[in-house]
Amino acid sequence: MTKTSPRQAPKHADMSHFANNKNELVIGGKMISQIDKLVGSTPFYAYDKALIANKVASLKSALPEKIQLHYAIKANPLPSLVHFMVDHVSGFDVASKKEMLLALQSGMPANEISFAGPGKTHDDIQAAIIAGITLHTESKTEISRAIELGESLNIKPNIAIRVNPAFELKASGMKMSGGSKPFGIDEELLPKLLNKLPYDKINFRGFHIFAGSQNLKAEAIIEMHDKTFALAQQLVSLTPVKIAYINIGGGLGIPYFPGEQRLLLDEISSNLTNLLKQYQHTLADIDIVMELGRYLVGEAGIYVSKIVDKKISRGTTYLICDGGLHHHLSNSGNFGQVIRKNYPVAIGNKLCAINEKVELVNIVGPLCTPLDILADKVMLPVSNVDDYVVVYQSGAYGASASPQDFLSQPHLHEILL
Ligand SMILES: Cc1ncc(COP(=O)(O)O)c(C=O)c1O
Repeated sequence: MTKTSPRQAPKHADMSHFANNKNELVIGGKMISQIDKLVGSTPFYAYDKALIANKVASLKSALPEKIQLHYAIKANPLPSLVHFMVDHVSGFDVASKKEMLLALQSGMPANEISFAGPGKTHDDIQAAIIAGITLHTESKTEISRAIELGESLNIKPNIAIRVNPAFELKASGMKMSGGSKPFGIDEELLPKLLNKLPYDKINFRGFHIFAGSQNLKAEAIIEMHDKTFALAQQLVSLTPVKIAYINIGGGLGIPYFPGEQRLLLDEISSNLTNLLKQYQHTLADIDIVMELGRYLVGEAGIYVSKIVDKKISRGTTYLICDGGLHHHLSNSGNFGQVIRKNYPVAIGNKLCAINEKVELVNIVGPLCTPLDILADKVMLPVSNVDDYVVVYQSGAYGASASPQDFLSQPHLHEILL
């Protein structure tokens, strides 16, 4: 077996968009030592408005004009970030009543907010009907509940159907369709269901076809789009009323691990242009929505902790930080990954390693569990207590997707700059 030399080993995607200062990382126009003083202490997440705005703008300019972008709040529900997104996307996807209230308070119009997710309660559905947002119903029970509640509230509920298509999004970090799934209504059940819906009691708005998430393969996304449009055409032909939109899902991923590259949008976009042409008669007055979370915000955020101890155990150097798994579960490898890999990391106040000595280190958090890993066997500039450890690609599924109360450690700060 041949050994891979360090030069041949896959590298992380380029993070140089943060390196506009030679030694210290800058985000949102501020150095991390300044942000530390601004928020009061490490650990913190910092998100860059300009990076988010640029990402959305470049995606919009790459995609056909007819495609509308919706932001999935679950990726990052920081209120200031959600408010910021109002001016950059045309709608929000929410996954709970709390996210719905946040979306409404942000100023996004109710008819541009959709509520997906299995297990919506009586209370969730009632609140959604009163608010006037659209329920992406995931079962016959949810549809019946919405109709009943609509009648008792004397408000017609806005309803769309989340479909569980027979196909899946291949090579995806998270598959959410195909086969048996708790999400959506199986596509083969829809002809009968669409025939029997009491359209006079509801505003039937459309279909939501979300096949998966975190995909970096353009050909897999293209195949999903081909199948999604074909299914959408069939569903439109089975629906006796005019619908407002087809939500074609999202799935665009970002590079987290060594060897992963950023998605190239050219082929995805030209395929979408062709599909819009091919199905133009069916989809003429119907909006086409793409629903994205991490692609819009994931690359615009960093997680910063401080080294509080450095020690060597039987030849391995450990950097022990004040933050870890409890703030950044996905980086620790405990949020759905099968094999743990490192996110890109840096010593944030020693960015430029050219004149720095480097060393091989394991970076861990303060929790008393071997699962609390920030980075495993990484070569970084020699660092000391009080230096900053930065984890890139941390703008999505960070703070809100982590068990902050685990071991009763202090909570963290978040700031949008
Ligand atoms: C229904 C739905 N919409 C949107 C998303 C956001 O996915 P991502 O952040 O990968 O774009 C998810 C993720 O699980 C989802 O389940």
